[in-house]
Amino acid sequence: MWGGRFAEGPSAVMRAINASIPFDKQMWRQDIAGSKAHATMLGAQGIVEADDVATILTGLDAVAADYAADGVPDDLALEDIHMLTEARLADKIGPVAGRLHTARSRNDQVATDFRLWVRDAIDQTDAALGGLQDALIARADEHAASVMPGFTHLQSAQPVTLGHHLMAYHDMIARDRGRFRDARARLNKSPLGSAALAGTGFPIDRDATAAALGFDGPTTNSLDAVSDRDFAIEYLTAAAQCALHLSRLAEEFVLWASQPFGFASLSDQWSTGSSIMPQKRNPDAAELVRGHAGRITGCLVSLMVTMKGLPLAYSKDMQDDKPPVFEAHGLLELSVAAMTGMIDSATFRTDRMRQVAETGFSTATDLADWLVREAGVPFREAHHITGRAVAHAESLKVRLDALPLGALREIDERIDRRVFDVLAVDASVASRTSFGGTAPSRVREAVAAARAAREAER
Ligand code: ARG
Repeated sequence: MWGGRFAEGPSAVMRAINASIPFDKQMWRQDIAGSKAHATMLGAQGIVEADDVATILTGLDAVAADYAADGVPDDLALEDIHMLTEARLADKIGPVAGRLHTARSRNDQVATDFRLWVRDAIDQTDAALGGLQDALIARADEHAASVMPGFTHLQSAQPVTLGHHLMAYHDMIARDRGRFRDARARLNKSPLGSAALAGTGFPIDRDATAAALGFDGPTTNSLDAVSDRDFAIEYLTAAAQCALHLSRLAEEFVLWASQPFGFASLSDQWSTGSSIMPQKRNPDAAELVRGHAGRITGCLVSLMVTMKGLPLAYSKDMQDDKPPVFEAHGLLELSVAAMTGMIDSATFRTDRMRQVAETGFSTATDLADWLVREAGVPFREAHHITGRAVAHAESLKVRLDALPLGALREIDERIDRRVFDVLAVDASVASRTSFGGTAPSRVREAVAAARAAREAER
């Protein structure tokens, strides 16, 4: 490509360190689309003759058909997908291929291709996350009234409903999708036509190429456009945040599927065996989702460190932008699909959840609240009275709602038998009707709202 200037070819190591074709070939569709938009514009502006443009467009389609049929070869001598495609085009149509690169540089070309690739990745991820939300909504609806222990510090705190717990993850995923969409909106400007760094003297039409590629318009500064990778960093930021959420959900499954918890069992499809311990059913997929969050976060850090301190405009360091984005996207896609499959097919052991919810004096707050509400006791005093009731129940090794009324009245005589209405776990969860609370009625409302939001997207 630059043969005019050099007498000797590059050393083998130079070739190896320089080549990005092993990974940037993943962008071949975007590269073809960008080239077609550019060629069409060159024709419309009279920069390249119409006949030549027609030849170039046919040739690009033929190159694309070869890629689709045979894959893209790792031709290190041709360095990257942009040069490979141009060389293949020349094989097909001869020297006319050389007109395609008029008023263009690989710098604006790669910036354009990569934006298109990340935009596609965001759209795929968004759709997959919508599917995960659907799975969470369906299981939450099924378990709107299933009682489970709610934890703080992983200590039994107050009973909650499984539906409420699952909808917590639905809400996290909703925010993740919002972040991906925000990133997409800012990304959607076309760098094409910024050329190497300074723009071009040819009478190009940047609005036309932007529109042809589905961008909202052209970027406004050529130096920024060829060296901006914010869109990739924003994608990775959203991906890392999403992966963190998935890792928390995965961790719940690791805990729930363990024998001491026994809250859920994963279907055979989502369990693995042990080569030595025949009884084992391991939650490997959940553990790997938990692990992948670390790798995805690493991808974000990798690109941020690559970009740090780079002066304007393009520097070859920026070629290292793609592997972390491609890697993170692949890991996230797998993680979302695995969590969706686990949610869809898990069996929740609601009997066991209820049994655990009934231990640990989980309705102690309900007793304190009852004293405040029914007997006008200040909350701090009610907290103290309840603490004594818990200590008494603990010494008798019984649940709070199994304490005889007489024993409760000995602790505080303002207590009467109506208190038993709030000491059972069902009564406890049913009473938490504040907006956003765990009461089954509220969970059903949240499920309905979430369904309506999904419906509105379609
Ligand atoms: N393969 C390169 C990349 O991914 C394309 C841009 C090369 N530009 C250049 N001036 N060498 O960044």
